[in-house]
Amino acid sequence: MKALVLAGGSGTRLRPFSYSMPKQLIPIANKPVLVHVLQGVRDLGVTEVGVIVGDRGPEIEAVLGDGSRFGLRITYIPQDAPRGLAHTVSIARDFLGNDDFVMYLGDNVLPDGVVGIAEEFTTHRPAAQVVVYKVPDPRSFGVAELGPDGEVLRLVEKPQEPRSDLALIGVYFFTPAIHEAVEAIEPSARGELEITEAIQWLLSSGADVRASRYDGYWKDTGKVEDVLKCNSHFLDGLSRRVDGHVDAGSVLVGQVVVEAGARILRSRVEGPAIIGTGTVVEESHVGPYTSIGRDCLVIDSRLESSIALDEASVTGVHGLRDSLIGRNAFVGTTGRGTDHHCLVVGDHTRVEVAA
Ligand code: DAU
Repeated sequence: MKALVLAGGSGTRLRPFSYSMPKQLIPIANKPVLVHVLQGVRDLGVTEVGVIVGDRGPEIEAVLGDGSRFGLRITYIPQDAPRGLAHTVSIARDFLGNDDFVMYLGDNVLPDGVVGIAEEFTTHRPAAQVVVYKVPDPRSFGVAELGPDGEVLRLVEKPQEPRSDLALIGVYFFTPAIHEAVEAIEPSARGELEITEAIQWLLSSGADVRASRYDGYWKDTGKVEDVLKCNSHFLDGLSRRVDGHVDAGSVLVGQVVVEAGARILRSRVEGPAIIGTGTVVEESHVGPYTSIGRDCLVIDSRLESSIALDEASVTGVHGLRDSLIGRNAFVGTTGRGTDHHCLVVGDHTRVEVAA
């Protein structure tokens, strides 16, 4: 079996971050989402991976390389524009050949893995096997309608009036039967070749399509609040490791990782939390549920349930919570005696100050 990992697309819901980086490289517990995805692929015993990339391909390639670091062989497959999930299958035709494959969305995180579902697929080899998960509001997902014995009755992409609460989540298993389906369908109302419609086409033509329920942890990290929630979930599994410097005036509480080259000075770090390599935390209180990237500065600040990306600085700010701070961003104060806020706010940025 091969894998097709989708790391193209536009990431509009993750603006402003997706202006400067592919959304699949946003860090969860200081590791890019795509690295979590590749670990999930490797757990299936798959080693041949095609990675679909859009115009941000070079940045993704710089992080993943040839895949050998993860025990994988990666082939990059460029996509000229986000023309849909089924379009990616069509442009990967040469790479996929006549092999079965797992398609994994590069922004979906399933830390509990889908090994059991992969086994079901290889045992029965249906034309397609989808993975479903019960969600409170399925309107922003592909939705599966199942019969009384779990058989798939119908699949609809982002229906306004969903007939079930089972969302299709970011992992699909296919035999080569999918290739005829992706060639047969037309672009949807949003102008994309939808994989959901290709699978529905298989179903309508009498092919065997199965659905497996996933009951582990799952997040589509396409929105900021979901990135923060997913980060907290991963931090919950952290084990304490202190490779950096912690001075005598500092206290680490609970599951805290201090990477090599990080320095904690006169501060309190409350786990779960990760402090990245080269970062300095001084006279501050960080955590719980916080990840700080590499080479950041956190000085005289209080930061919890948040993520700071590499080289960010937070200075003199108390009570930062549920925040995602971008690479090289600065969050600070205007200085003593001033009574105004001074903001340089980029496009599609959200700033919320205490009332
Ligand atoms: O998260 C699960 C949902 O993912 C499913 O329930 C939907 O049925 C499925 O269509 C998909 O919906 P999204 O609207 O969330 O897909 P998104 O545009 O975010 O793309 C998913 C991943 O695939 C993301 O890593 C970007 C990548 N992608 C997307 C498109 C449209 C590509 O590589 N190329 C593309 O053309």
